[in-house]
Amino acid sequence: MKRFFVFLAMLGIIFSFGQNISHAQGKILVAYFSRVGNEYGLGNITKGNTAIVAEIIAQKTGGELFEIKPVKNYPVDYDECTKIASREKATKARPALSTSVENFAQYDTIFIGYPIWYGDCPMAVYTFLESYDFSGKKIVPFCTHGGSGLSSTDQQITLTCPNSKILQGFEIRGVTAQKIPRRLKQESVIG
Ligand SMILES: Cc1cc2nc3c(=O)[nH]c(=O)nc-3n(C[C@H](O)[C@H](O)[C@H](O)COP(=O)(O)O)c2cc1C
Repeated sequence: MKRFFVFLAMLGIIFSFGQNISHAQGKILVAYFSRVGNEYGLGNITKGNTAIVAEIIAQKTGGELFEIKPVKNYPVDYDECTKIASREKATKARPALSTSVENFAQYDTIFIGYPIWYGDCPMAVYTFLESYDFSGKKIVPFCTHGGSGLSSTDQQITLTCPNSKILQGFEIRGVTAQKIPRRLKQESVIG
């Protein structure tokens, strides 16, 4: 019975995304930050929780998938990572990125995905948001988390990109994200 509810929750995700997808127009970019390694409540993961969700969105929207990658990878060790992340948040760091979007101007709607780190976006996501001109673009925030939900990150993105239209954000627990591909494949929702 529990598994049935998990699956219903996953379908809810797809449908709630469906609403945002119908508002998304023109060319779509699905940009995400995600970490691989020892993760909260999951142990060692080989694909990041946010990466899983981002791939499904790109598949459903036909959007271009783009990974926001810092020059310096975060440690695979969870505790080591939290130390660095909390220091970066406290100092409002803007970690340099090693990836960049070609011809950003061509995109009309940008999905932005990230894990919640200390009730906020990882600082590398702000580096990304501040690196491009989002004026006039639609932004759909989505996050994975360990229980905090969006944690007002949609409002932070609104403040960072005041000339964009921020559509309703979407959140999912990391542990649920890890179950999505297997279940959706089992139910033949995705190939
Ligand atoms: C440095 C760090 C800080 C975190 N802070 C929070 C938090 O404040 N609230 C929360 O619900 N989860 C928090 N988490 C858990 C992650 O948001 C969650 O596991 C997420 O799904 C990881 O996504 P990823 O695999 O795409 O990196 C934190 C994880 C890390 C590594």
